[in-house]
Amino acid sequence: MSTITIACLPGDGIGLEVMASAKEVIQTWAQTQNECKIEMQDFYWGSDHYVKTGRMMPEDAISKLKAFDAVFLGAVGNPALVPDHISLWGMLIKIRRELELSLNIRPARVIDGIQSPLRSPGNFDFVVVRENSEGEYSESGGVIHNGKDEIAVQNAIFTRKATERTIRYAFELAKKRNSKVTSATKSNGIVHSMPFWDRVFQEIAADYPDVETESVHIDALAAFLVTKPQTFDVIVASNLFGDILTDIGGAVMGSIGIAPSANLNTEGRFPSMFEPVHGSAPDIAGQEKANPIGQVWTAAMMLDHLGYPKGAESIIQAINEVTRQEIKTADVGGSYSTKEVTQAICHHLQSFHLKNREGKTR
Ligand code: NAI
Ligand code: MG
Repeated sequence: MSTITIACLPGDGIGLEVMASAKEVIQTWAQTQNECKIEMQDFYWGSDHYVKTGRMMPEDAISKLKAFDAVFLGAVGNPALVPDHISLWGMLIKIRRELELSLNIRPARVIDGIQSPLRSPGNFDFVVVRENSEGEYSESGGVIHNGKDEIAVQNAIFTRKATERTIRYAFELAKKRNSKVTSATKSNGIVHSMPFWDRVFQEIAADYPDVETESVHIDALAAFLVTKPQTFDVIVASNLFGDILTDIGGAVMGSIGIAPSANLNTEGRFPSMFEPVHGSAPDIAGQEKANPIGQVWTAAMMLDHLGYPKGAESIIQAINEVTRQEIKTADVGGSYSTKEVTQAICHHLQSFHLKNREGKTR
């Protein structure tokens, strides 16, 4: 039996609560199969660690993480203790950059029993492929002069390598799904990087004649995700555009608390990192109100990536079963606690397993 190793970084706030949930779900799944053994190790890095040591993570953190098959992260940030730009750049962005997690994959779809705020959401099911290493989120630039003469320069960096990698991944994904790629652009307003992005998009599209394509300006695209989300399959976007679109994805699903994401190292040189879209939600932390579904669905994406698609499928099925029965946290209109939702998901995983076993012995 093979062993998979997972570094668990709960982080701050509700990260600790939803991580405990997802670990319980993973352990429950692990007990129902004999394909692999799972070893999870916890690292309590984050804002409390910063207060104690002046760093979000120890100096050797990245080299430690490189030894695992995957990194599983809760959420980072406690603005009462540490300014957000320090917590984000000291941990999340540092891990994304140093493990070369160049793509961020974020699905959004209608979930039974969870009401979308849209009046007619249709049966939407789309995935945003977001460039995750450069673009608008770059350290290039600076601030000079003072007062009225002050000048802030923020450069957006678009390399051919990263742009091609992102767009090609989107096309490969579309081939396995519904064969449509929408490119988020803004070449009417951003006159260098976005025409370049469009050009690379067209070049790569030529390699996939069977995939339907469209380029849509980001402002209109943001609106279309609200007015007709069911028309999208794979959406490919730069770092900033993808960040914004995926929050809309979480919102139209019914809550940011259910949205999952994967940060991929496409070359397989370092482990990929899996984290929900939401942050540490200081407003509800420690109250058993956090929706664990984002973190649990993220665990399913991680198992799929590690080569256990059946495990991923059964976890998603268990989530659907639980939401269909209206066992939900407050953010999606329920009154159940984080732990109760988690237990219900685990219960369904176990009962699928028992049903399968009965089916086989009959
Ligand atoms: P947030 O995602 O933490 O919270 C936004 C709103 O959604 C809040 O009302 C919160 O209660 C709710 N919410 C989020 N996750 C939920 C869940 N699982 N169940 C129920 N409700 C949920 O974003 P916010 O408030 O902008 O940021 C809070 C902290 O998190 C900041 O320090 C920020 O920098 C950090 N952050 C970290 C991220 C990460 O680690 N990937 C992503 C976004 C924010
Ligand atoms: Mg965001």
